[in-house]
Amino acid sequence: MKPPHTRREFLSRSAAAVLSSKLFPGIESASAKTHSGNAVASSGAAPRRIIIDTDPGVDDAMAIFLALRSPELKVEAITAVSGNVPLDLTLPNALRLAEIAGRTDIPITGGASVPLVRRLITAKYVHGSNGLGGVDFPEPSLKPVAETATQLISRLVRANPGGITIVAIGPLTNIGTLLRSDPEIARLIPQIVIMGGSLSGGNITPAAEFNLYVDPEAARIVFDSGIPLTMVGLDVTEKVLLREEHIVMLERVQNPVSQAAGKIMRATLNRAHRGIDATVIAMHDPLTVASLIDPQLLKLQDYYVEVETEGEFTAGMTVGYAHAPVRPSAPRANANPPQPDPDSSFHPNAKVAVGVDPDRFFNLLMSRLTS
Ligand code: BDR
Ligand code: CA
Repeated sequence: MKPPHTRREFLSRSAAAVLSSKLFPGIESASAKTHSGNAVASSGAAPRRIIIDTDPGVDDAMAIFLALRSPELKVEAITAVSGNVPLDLTLPNALRLAEIAGRTDIPITGGASVPLVRRLITAKYVHGSNGLGGVDFPEPSLKPVAETATQLISRLVRANPGGITIVAIGPLTNIGTLLRSDPEIARLIPQIVIMGGSLSGGNITPAAEFNLYVDPEAARIVFDSGIPLTMVGLDVTEKVLLREEHIVMLERVQNPVSQAAGKIMRATLNRAHRGIDATVIAMHDPLTVASLIDPQLLKLQDYYVEVETEGEFTAGMTVGYAHAPVRPSAPRANANPPQPDPDSSFHPNAKVAVGVDPDRFFNLLMSRLTS
């Protein structure tokens, strides 16, 4: 575990450590481990500036809360996209979540309501009909800014060249739309951290993970963009499953974020108990955000990742090559013109998460949400 960056971080981690150990002795706060004998260590690093592109979404909600409560990150904007539920729910949910966290200073807006070329498929069976587990929260009083998602992202990126990381935890429609209309902007984006994809099978089809399944064409644009990518896929996110004891911990702490997170995740766990796959409780999106807070959470490996867009049963599948040759399917005998020989070189386009430390992740998540 790395040392605290700032005094604020140290104080917040320390408070969380005390609270967590009182409320939940079984969980040792990450901060408690970190700071023994190292309380004044400080790298002085500035917080990482991020834009969160999201489809809240129960795990998106946890991810947004985590980001908003972590001093290592400065959330410059939140942009909503259709995915888990349609945009007319994900946008108000994003506004609600920021308001619950007391962060009405952050610009929030909506983007794409449908994928680039496909019909929208949602995941209400996991996220509830309102996207927040069916939990009723008040209407947000916070309003979206006037710019669209692509306008807002574009303005912030152009004003801060190389300074803003995009954290994409929904279908990639907004980012694909931006790159399609303005390919030049790619060189100004230092990194996109993507929750999506899998090298070990899907969760909505045997081949595809949900975010890539919803908009494979947008995902392909992003994976072909040349922007440094980190892919946090099901290979690791399905290893971080929230448990009853975590929810109890959230429910016991009287702060608005912890209370809201507890309600959302209690509803989601109840849904899981009604027979849906246990991975509905996977912390896909929070793990993706957490990887920017604590880079040691994930083991990353260079891959060349292709996104399948043609398959009858495999659209949205991520095909990862760890070395050459990088070959497509064999050409049809009657292909005209004849296909060129396959590229024999290896050009990784993504760092793919292949290992995770779940205990370390949950220590971080719980300490930030309950502090
Ligand atoms: C991803 O799909 C959504 O349902 C979750 O919010 C997450 O972003 C997991 O496949
Ligand atoms: Ca999501």
